[in-house]
Amino acid sequence: MTKHLLSIDDVSRDDIDSLLKLTDGSADLRTRRIPRSPALRGKTVAWLFYEDSTRTRLSFETAAKTLSADTLNFSVNSSSVNKGESLRDTVETIGAMGVDGIVVRHSCAGVPQRIANWIDAPSSNIAVINAGDGAHEHPTQALLDLYTATKHLGSLEGKHIAFVGDIRHSRVARSGAAAFAKMGAQVTLVAPQTLLPPSLEGWQAEATNDFDSVLAEVDICYLLRMQLERQNAALVPSLREYRAEYGLNQTRAKRLKDSALIMHPGPMNRDVEIAGDVADHPNAVITDQVSNGVALRMAVLFNLLAVTDDDDATSAAVTDDDDATSAAVADDGDATSDAVTDEMDPS
Ligand code: NCD
Repeated sequence: MTKHLLSIDDVSRDDIDSLLKLTDGSADLRTRRIPRSPALRGKTVAWLFYEDSTRTRLSFETAAKTLSADTLNFSVNSSSVNKGESLRDTVETIGAMGVDGIVVRHSCAGVPQRIANWIDAPSSNIAVINAGDGAHEHPTQALLDLYTATKHLGSLEGKHIAFVGDIRHSRVARSGAAAFAKMGAQVTLVAPQTLLPPSLEGWQAEATNDFDSVLAEVDICYLLRMQLERQNAALVPSLREYRAEYGLNQTRAKRLKDSALIMHPGPMNRDVEIAGDVADHPNAVITDQVSNGVALRMAVLFNLLAVTDDDDATSAAVTDDDDATSAAVADDGDATSDAVTDEMDPS
């Protein structure tokens, strides 16, 4: 895997397979009586969130804490950004604190890549993780969606996923389409013409304006929120009309295959893209997506931040039998502990 995770292009199919395997270990770890591993002890991760976030930020924070990493919270509203400090100076300041990873969310596409370029001195080991950049990419969301879909459906080879809604402004759809296509799935984008990307170049997907025509065929119906904050013109006549044509209501949900999954990255606008009662449908795996998000982000943080150098404090912490955390974990007698500690043990 590459040094940073900026885009789904940074991970090969093999990388994805091993990340999903590591996610299984992380998920087991989370079910322990004491859900803590010392795997990233001594490592520091900084959160650089320039855009609102609930689940992604909490998910990354829980993942880092579960692996015993230290975290540096950067809040745009109470930082020197309000005094006119540039992004570059902020990044250099945070880099100089000695962090090992920067998780960044920004409303402009390309910011995580820029940050990676700035800090990519040969001596720098800082990993940059894209937690969503404008309408561009959201790779950890795509990976947690792959994980969730695989857990329910098995191999995604030949499976059919429809992303439905505001594709044009959706980083979730862009990363998701690339990720599902990489795993051999067939991808269809469903939206009114105004909410489809201007061109399908670079998308391994087909597109249609007719939601009803794909309902009976898909294995995954993935709904997207109308990204009003990224739209600068009225792109649908009204939310009412949008809901009538593209909302997943009970009538449409009944036409899905019995095994079809209903997915949504959150936050949902109930009764716009998804009817309130469909969000609670037995095939809706939306809360699984949230909980798998923590395990997947543990796997990503571990993959990018843990190092194999024996002299490194992290390895020492993981292997040190006298270590209080390890001892506490080992004491709980849970059979999964050993498996996970092995998986998360870089030595
Ligand atoms: C998405 C995002 O921020 O891109 N949410 C998320 O990360 N779970 C989708 C959205 O905001 O609609």
